Amino acid sequence: MVDIHRGLADVAIDTSQVCHIDGERGELIYRGYDIRELADKASYEEVVYLLWNDDLPTTSQLADFRAELATSFMVPAAVFEGLELFSHATAPMHALRTAISHLGALDALADGVDDANVRRIGMRLVAQLPTVVAAYQRVRSGLEPVAPRPDLSVAGNFLYMLSGEVPTEAATRVMDVALVLHAEHGSNASTFVARAVASTLSDVYSSITAAIGSLKGPLHGGANEAVMKALEQMGEMAAVEPYVLGVLAKPGGRVMGFGHRVYRVLDPRAMVLKDVAEKLAAESGYSLYFEMSLEMERVMEREMSARGKQVRPNVDFFSASVYRMLGLPTDMYTPVFAVARISGWMAHLYEQYADNRLMRPRLVYVGPVGRKFQPVEAR
Ligand code: CMC
Repeated sequence: MVDIHRGLADVAIDTSQVCHIDGERGELIYRGYDIRELADKASYEEVVYLLWNDDLPTTSQLADFRAELATSFMVPAAVFEGLELFSHATAPMHALRTAISHLGALDALADGVDDANVRRIGMRLVAQLPTVVAAYQRVRSGLEPVAPRPDLSVAGNFLYMLSGEVPTEAATRVMDVALVLHAEHGSNASTFVARAVASTLSDVYSSITAAIGSLKGPLHGGANEAVMKALEQMGEMAAVEPYVLGVLAKPGGRVMGFGHRVYRVLDPRAMVLKDVAEKLAAESGYSLYFEMSLEMERVMEREMSARGKQVRPNVDFFSASVYRMLGLPTDMYTPVFAVARISGWMAHLYEQYADNRLMRPRLVYVGPVGRKFQPVEAR
């Protein structure tokens, strides 16, 4: 009899050197470095370099890495034209997933899975996801896309391409921290999907297109949008407690932005984002959604403790208020997650292609047996 691990809980699919999560202690480690220190001190580019190599870059390695990224910021014109074909009602995650597939269709060398080619595509995708996401936001708002600026960082450039104005240092830093925190998270659903597709020796674009589809779901990256939609639906502080109690009263009810497969204590990324959200709320004087988030956290803490469950805020919970205060539309939150997570997905694809084994789990059949075939007219 085969053991069944529903949801692949506690199943290790391979070894990895990219990331370690200690769910009991609330630790997230990228190649030996604590995420809290990286969020505090490192730029997103340094973190991408770290995820893709053995260690953080030296000054010259970082300069070369930034320069190489900058040469790839621009996407082919056909991809912009493709974005213009969507209806303005097309959600950005659908547009992004399609655009990455389009990028693959235009890349004559897409199918090569040798390390050099996979890394070439990785560089392109880290550079170009922000360009695609920002361009689609402008196109659907009836505006021309803004060409990327090679002198800006990934975070700064992304904000610049969204608004057409060079962002403040403070806004750039907030985006940079969000990208660092969302860059990598072990064998989460979308990373597993990316590795599973790559394990057939299919190409990088197919793996990443599938990963984007996985990230989009509300139990994964789509939770940040779901959190903001819930806050908008509540609208005021007095509605928070009834809302949470109402969700919990439903069979299988899940309050978005809470809970995690691995963490039993507070997600360290949520801890950092809570501080960022608090600071932004104090500076902007616009604190309603942050205050409501604190109230949701309080009510959930009480209700979950009463049920003997350890369900705490996850990364998606406070990122929602942070993105709101950065002025991003709600349906852009999950695309921003993808803009960051592409670096982690790629780090895993480098490992997968370098030492591949086809992923082929089993299902335990519990259907009928021994049926006798009847011709169609006799059924
Ligand atoms: N609201 C209410 N109860 C919850 C929640 C929640 N958000 N999360 C977990 N629980 C309870 C649940 O009732 C269950 O209790 P019981 O064992 O009595 O049925 C227990 O905690 C375990 O929950 P589970 O859903 O079986 O746990 P899982 O590991 O299968 O799912 C999860 C993890 C993230 C899908 C789930 O916590 C959830 O649906 N959360 C809301 C969606 C969300 O915020 N997703 C973002 C995840 S983190 C970042 C990312 O991956 O993008």
